Amino acid sequence: MVSDSGFIKERVIGDCRLILGDSREIVSYLEGYDAVITDPVWPNAPQGMFPGVDNPRDLLEDVLAHCTEAQRIAIIMRCDSDPRILSAVPECLPFVRVQMLEYAVAGRMGRILGGMETLYGYGKPIPVREGQRLIPGRCEPAQPTKKADRPDHPCPRSLHHMKWAVRWWSEPGETVLDPFMGSGTTLAACAALGRAAVGIEIDPDYFEIACGRIEEAYRQPDLFDALLRVS
Ligand SMILES: C[S@@+](CC[C@H](N)C(=O)[O-])C[C@H]1O[C@@H](n2cnc3c(N)ncnc32)[C@H](O)[C@@H]1O
Repeated sequence: MVSDSGFIKERVIGDCRLILGDSREIVSYLEGYDAVITDPVWPNAPQGMFPGVDNPRDLLEDVLAHCTEAQRIAIIMRCDSDPRILSAVPECLPFVRVQMLEYAVAGRMGRILGGMETLYGYGKPIPVREGQRLIPGRCEPAQPTKKADRPDHPCPRSLHHMKWAVRWWSEPGETVLDPFMGSGTTLAACAALGRAAVGIEIDPDYFEIACGRIEEAYRQPDLFDALLRVS
């Protein structure tokens, strides 16, 4: 694959493909994904946290406009992320619902009481089958990850939440795309659940962290996750 800048590094680990580069240049070359599940740069992120991103809404719009193969898009954001960014989601995918991704212990975000994130789901919901008839509004609360076990990224998502999101927004046999991969939580969830995934990250340090996490996810599969796999 060659992007406009020509600068792309790629690793394939199990069924996950990790790409180092700018999603705006890469997504239009990608084929064979079914759902986008992502946690984009949010509009009120502290200045300088993600260098080079002046306008997170336009960035998300540029990327999603080229994700033409996605039947479903799930956008995950903190409860204090400005939801007006969601106007970047292509209108051809209808809105389905909001889902709350809760934490067992609430945290403090300045004056905001944390303790949950939100998922906004668009497109064609996964088909009805045993155990997935009614699309739920909330995930069971996640336990906060100990600081020492957290990847070295400013905002890694909870693996528990991401596994839940992957199960509700993709089907077994499908491929999930995360164009804002960060430390790779979406791909780690896909690896655990036996889904194929493609992740793109612009920052070389976060890309390496994601590669390490996906290698680890395949090295040490969780027996409980194995039970959740449906082929
Ligand atoms: C909110 S974070 C994602 C965190 C991720 N969900 C995790 O659990 O680690 C958004 C990520 O998008 C990356 N990013 C920003 N602009 C990008 C671009 N144009 N292409 C690809 N990645 C980009 C940032 O470096 C950051 O790691």
